[in-house]
Amino acid sequence: MSDTDKELRVSKIRDGTVIDHVTAGQALNVLAILGIDGSGGESVSIGMNVPSDKLGLKDVVKVEGRELSQSEVDVLSLIAPEATINIIRDFDVIEKNRVERTESVTGILVCPNHNCITNADEPVRTAFAVLEDGVRCSYCGTIVRGGDVAEHIDAHGSGETAL
Ligand code: CTP
Ligand code: ZN
Repeated sequence: MSDTDKELRVSKIRDGTVIDHVTAGQALNVLAILGIDGSGGESVSIGMNVPSDKLGLKDVVKVEGRELSQSEVDVLSLIAPEATINIIRDFDVIEKNRVERTESVTGILVCPNHNCITNADEPVRTAFAVLEDGVRCSYCGTIVRGGDVAEHIDAHGSGETAL
């Protein structure tokens, strides 16, 4: 099988975003960060444990007709630090960015402390400082360790209490 055949395991998209070089095994968490569960009608293709020269194995997530917010990219950097975000227009890659480690992330993650103001019925967006191995709630100080971050992704993708 040629390299091109291997690359086309997940077919190309026309317009949207390809999140490539995702840490193997993290594709479903990427979807959770984007708030995608299939109910919104987006076309999504996923490759899991696809061979990669750089990473050995990688996951790939392709979302049609959708770009990512800075908050989504920031949280993504926690679970897939090697990821590249490719913006696709009319089948061409018009922009390619590596995710960057950030000092803080807002929204999308939820604080595990039930008494935290971000879990009260207040319109407060979550905010966490990024630590060496995890994140710390900027409101109550609760620490979520690196390996547990994926379990604290807001299923609705906003990390904000409904107004
Ligand atoms: N891609 C896609 N649909 C397109 C164009 C590209 O799904 N219309 C995907 C490719 O399959 C690849 C990613 O977007 O997974 C980046 O495309 P490209 O930059 O062409 O690939 P590479 O050069 O291999 O990327 P990199 O250098 O980042 O590894
Ligand atoms: Zn908190």
